[in-house]
Formats: sequence, C-alpha cells, structure tokens
Amino acid sequence: MPIQVLNDNFILETDNTSYTFTVKNGVPVHLYYGEKLAGTEDLHGLIPTKTRSFQPYYTYHEQGFALDNVPLEVSFFDSGDFRASAIKLRDSDGRYLSEFVFDGYEIVKNRTEIAGMPCGRGGADVETLIIKLVCGSVSVRLYYVVYPNTDVITRYTTVENTGDTPVQIEKLASGMLDLQGGEYKILTLQGRVASERERKLCSVPFGRYQVLSNKGTSSHSASPFMMLAESSANENEGGVYAMNLVYSGNFCAETELDGLNRLRACIGINEETFSHTLTAGETFCSPEVALTYSLSGYNGASIAMSDYIREYIFPERFAKACRPVVINTWEAFEFDIDEEKILAFAKIAKNADIDTLVIDDGWFSSRRSDTSGLGDWTVSPEVFPSGLESFGKKIREIGLNLGIWIEPEMVNPDSELYRKHPDWALGRCEIQSRNQLVLDMTNPAVEEYLFESLSAVLEKAQPSYVKWDMNRYLCPYLSKYTKNSAEVAHAYMLGAYRLMDRLTKRFPNILLENCSGGGGRFDAGMLYYSPQIWTSDNTCPYERAYIQAGASYAYPVSSMSCHVTATPNGGTQVLTSLDFRFGMARNGVLGYELDLFKLTDEELASIRAQIEEYRRWEDLTLNGDFYRLITPFDNSKYYAWIMVSKQKDRALLSFNTLETGCNDEDPIVKIYGLSDEKRYRIGAEVRSGKAWRLAGLKIPRAKQNGENYTVGIFEEK
Ligand code: DGJ
Repeated sequence: MPIQVLNDNFILETDNTSYTFTVKNGVPVHLYYGEKLAGTEDLHGLIPTKTRSFQPYYTYHEQGFALDNVPLEVSFFDSGDFRASAIKLRDSDGRYLSEFVFDGYEIVKNRTEIAGMPCGRGGADVETLIIKLVCGSVSVRLYYVVYPNTDVITRYTTVENTGDTPVQIEKLASGMLDLQGGEYKILTLQGRVASERERKLCSVPFGRYQVLSNKGTSSHSASPFMMLAESSANENEGGVYAMNLVYSGNFCAETELDGLNRLRACIGINEETFSHTLTAGETFCSPEVALTYSLSGYNGASIAMSDYIREYIFPERFAKACRPVVINTWEAFEFDIDEEKILAFAKIAKNADIDTLVIDDGWFSSRRSDTSGLGDWTVSPEVFPSGLESFGKKIREIGLNLGIWIEPEMVNPDSELYRKHPDWALGRCEIQSRNQLVLDMTNPAVEEYLFESLSAVLEKAQPSYVKWDMNRYLCPYLSKYTKNSAEVAHAYMLGAYRLMDRLTKRFPNILLENCSGGGGRFDAGMLYYSPQIWTSDNTCPYERAYIQAGASYAYPVSSMSCHVTATPNGGTQVLTSLDFRFGMARNGVLGYELDLFKLTDEELASIRAQIEEYRRWEDLTLNGDFYRLITPFDNSKYYAWIMVSKQKDRALLSFNTLETGCNDEDPIVKIYGLSDEKRYRIGAEVRSGKAWRLAGLKIPRAKQNGENYTVGIFEEK
C-alpha cells in the first residue's frame, strides 16, 4: 500500500523511503522524508510547540502553533510564515489569499495525466493522494503521486476558482520540502553556452538562494533540478534528496536557510516572469516535480531519478530500445550541403556501419547561412533538386535511415513567413539573436501553420529521426496574441509542448532528439517527448567530461546525445585521439559528426569497431545503473565511471585521463556498483565485488592526457 492514513498521519511509501505528514489546525504539517520507517512510528513530537517572539499566531489555532515555526507541506504568502512561500494569490480587490484550511483528501489508484504538460506516466502500483485546502471560493489541491518501484514521489498543485470574480496567481511552486535539523549541501547544475550543467556544490547558504531561468527555456545557465545532501554525504554514501522539475520554461529552484537553521526548498515556475489570471470556474495546474531520497549518496539519488525518467517519462516506445547511431552533417559541412555530396557521404557512412544520416540545418527554403529562411518549411530546390521524398528513398536504398533537422519555434525576418505574418513573432524585430525572432507559440494560428507545414515535410521525407533545435532565448515578452507580458512565458511553453505532442502523436515512429544550441533546453520536460537531447555544441572530450558528468546527476546517460566530431573542436583547442573521443561519447547515446570524406580507411575501420563495441554494451547504457567513480569536479585529472547491469553480472568501466603530472602515481579506482558477495573478473584478476570496492583497480594506462582505458567486468561463476 504506497499510501496509508494511520494515526492521523498521511504515510507515503516507496520501496526504500517514507514521506509522512499530518494535519494540525487545518494545516498540512510535514513530519518526515527519508529512509523507510515503520508506518506505525509516531512522529508528532517533532512538531514545534512554542511560538517565538514576533511570530504571528492565529487565535483559533492551538496555543504554541505558529505557521512560521512549523515544517509545512505548502506555504502561502502573507500567512504569517515569513519563509519563502510556495503559493501567492490575490483576489480581485488585490488582497492576498492566505488562510487556507484542510478540506478533505482522496486516495486514487494510479494517476491522472496533467493536461497540456509533460508528466510521469501511470503504472499498476502507482497511487495518488490529493489534499484539498480551501480559502473562500478558492481551492488548492496538493497532488502526491507515489512510484514505489523507483523511490520517486512526485508533486504538483492545482488552484481552482469556484467564485465569480478572477483570482491572480502570482506564484505557484510545484513542490516544497521543509527539512528540520541537520546540515545540508546543495548541488545544482549551472553553466553557460557550450559549458552546460557544471556541478556546483556548496553548503546551503544562509538566506535565500535561487537558481533560475528567466530566458524562456530552462537554458544553458541552469537546470530545473537540485539535490540537498547531508553534509557528510559523498557519491556513494549518505542521505541525498533530489528535486527534478518536469518543465522546460522559466523555473526557480530556491532554498532558504533561516536564523533558526530551518531549511526550506521550493521548485517551480519562476514567479519573476509569471502571473496568471484565474477566471471564474477555471483551474490552473503547476508543472510536476519528481522527488527522491537515497541513503546511497549522490549516485543513489541519480540512479533512482534515472530509473524514474526511463520508466515513466521517456516516450514508452523508445525508452528501452536501441538508439540509432547517427552521422550528422552539421560539424562537417554546416550550410554547405547538396544532394550529390550527401549521397556520396551517406555511402561512406554505410560502409562505416553508421545507421542513420541526419541532414542538419540548410536543407530548406533559401537558407545558405543563418540569416534567412527559418519559418519557410519547404525543401530548397538548390540543395535537393529532386525533393525530399526522392532523397529519402535514395538514402534508404543505400541502407541508411534518414534523419532531419528542424527549428520550428523560430523565424528569420528575412523569410516569406515573416513578410506575410510579422505579427506572428514575439518581441520586436530590432531585438534579434542569431538573426532570428521567436515565433509566438501562444497563438494557435502559429501552431497550426507549423503543424501543417512540418507534417508535410515529414510525410514526404519519411525520416525515422528528427532533431528539434531552438536557437535563441525569449526577449522581450511581447506578444500580439497574449497581451499580458507576465503570461507569455508559460503560455509559450504550453504552445511548444502542444506542437511537440501533436507532431510526436502524428508520427509515432519518429525518434525525436531535442536540442537548443547544444543543451539549452535539457530537462525532464523535454525528455517526455524526446528520449535524447543534444548535450552540448562543445564536443571536446576534455570539456565533455564535465558537461556529461554534470548532466548525469539529474538525467539518465541514455538521454545524452554524444557525438564523435573533428578535433580540435569546441572549447579546448587541443588534438585528441579518435579513441579518446569515442571513450567520452560512449558515456551516452553514440553518434558521429565528422567529415567522413577526410577519413583514412584505418579511421573508418576504427569507427566500425567502435560501433560494434558500443552495441555490445548498449544494454547497460539504456537499462543499467550508472555510477560516477571519479568526477572531474572532485579531481580535475580523471573522469571514471561504471555502468552496471541490474542483475550485477556485467559492467563496463571507463577511466579517462584528463591531465597528467610529472612522476604521477598510477591511479587506483575504487569500483562501486558491483555486488559485494559476487566475484568478478577484470582482465586477468578475479576478486570479490567487495575487494574491488574497497581495494580498487590499478589503472594500467593513465600516463598521457587524453587517454581512455575501458574494460569489461564479468561475474565469475
Ligand atoms: C545549433 C545546434 O546545437 C547545432 O548542432 C546545429 O544543429 C546548429 N544549431 C544548426 O543551426
């Protein structure tokens, strides 16, 4: 029974965790979230019973109960709880609505979908608890969806206006967590274009700390994700909480550590760019957040989150299936493509055992550079004189599948679309980025146009893979259709989701890969439509070590699209071997982005061997457990990881040397993830999992920068 009500407590249980709260004075009071406890434990003694000086109290509550003092399940702005609030509402006279009281609960089997937004799928053992709170004619419902087998509990919140005047929603967090006692660290993923998702780890600072995006997308700078860890936790031991928002627009992940050493964490839509007028009879729903807790350190929390995303967020059809190994034209040719050249290129790709050819930017309209054409989704007769239908056939005759790049949400001022519908663009023509404007996805006419024109392209080309790009942020929030600027960002996201939803339903066999100038929209929301995302435009393996290790805290490795490209490339302008580039790219979904015309026969043979090797272990990329053994954040010399099968009978260890020093010691890596009791062979050595974990493996090759040592680990029966 994942959800029980016992002794006044709501008890939510997954295989390894418990989440408990109660209702006191009509207010949901948080009691516990962590390692599984017996449901019969009485935790009421944890509730503070003393009102401190200056803390407001309600005379109709029990004495000693002050909202500002109590760990809560939800906090309303202006309720007397001065900590960061989760919800801020105003009535039509401008007064804050804050005195919400418990008005019953419901437990339902399985779960319902969130209309218009990505969310976890249901399952046979899934249950949902709904807590209803009421203030006058406004109802707030707190949803808790329990996924026992992945140790995930998700939360989202709705606000319903049953009155006859509008209500203003100024903030609506998806989830909130109050932690009493203990000292915590916060782990977030922050970076910049071409250096996305670097791990930032520090003690939770006093006061409010926010990691957010106001750019219209989750962005390159920050991810809608945070971990809170007991300060003594490490990668493999200690309590770690994770909050992963299933949303791709402006978000805010915030913590507040106050003078009483109480920690609150909230995550949801960024209030800075959000407001919603809730009309009479309307219900508004927040995005969903997935929460997990693990006693097995950061790796434990990442594994639970990855299992959840693979099982319940990824499109079911592609979740566990082998992914295509693509060759993408962008890094090799940018806009300089034509049919004849690409067909010759495709033949070499086939010979290298690559299975999908992706034509990136430059195939449509008059687009020969990034200054024109976006929005005009018709094939360029200059590039593909016989059309996409015939080109697609020729690619399939060569024995490859076809992939195609699109950037639906954008328009160049130099395009037929913009000349015809200048009012379909957001913002102002004077404020451009990469010579382009963002289309107004809040406008149904725009959505319709894109659905029809892109469907026509996909009908003709019959691709098996589509790369959906998005190459600028939103600014200013100015829409001819959605007049209120504060409503644009979220309405935009809903429009983009609608289009993605319609196109993926219309073409269910197409594997969608998301992209936003690299990993500018890499989040659990996008993973609902596309099981893989282009991780970064920076493909230099040295820098990818940081980018990929960072992303692995929040997302499965099978969500990271990783290509072997030319060298030097991306950030660090250094030469790297094909072997090292492959070693890093196989840390996710493998692909290539090389100019195959320039490769020698030996190099093409190496690619064939790499693909064979990748396929041999792909089941672990898709379904195994991923452990960071040494991250470059902790030791800038090395990046070591292991993927272990769920049965713990096979594993793949990868050790990458990023930096060497004169007279360096031979590194020893302690191998986590294996079963202590089983015995495993690595090369000629056989030891117990316990010995590999505690004594480790001496790496035979780590003498040079840019060296990769990968070895299979097999259970010795
Ligand atoms: C940005 C992407 O990240 C690249 O991979 C490529 O698709 C270009 N856009 C094309 O314009």
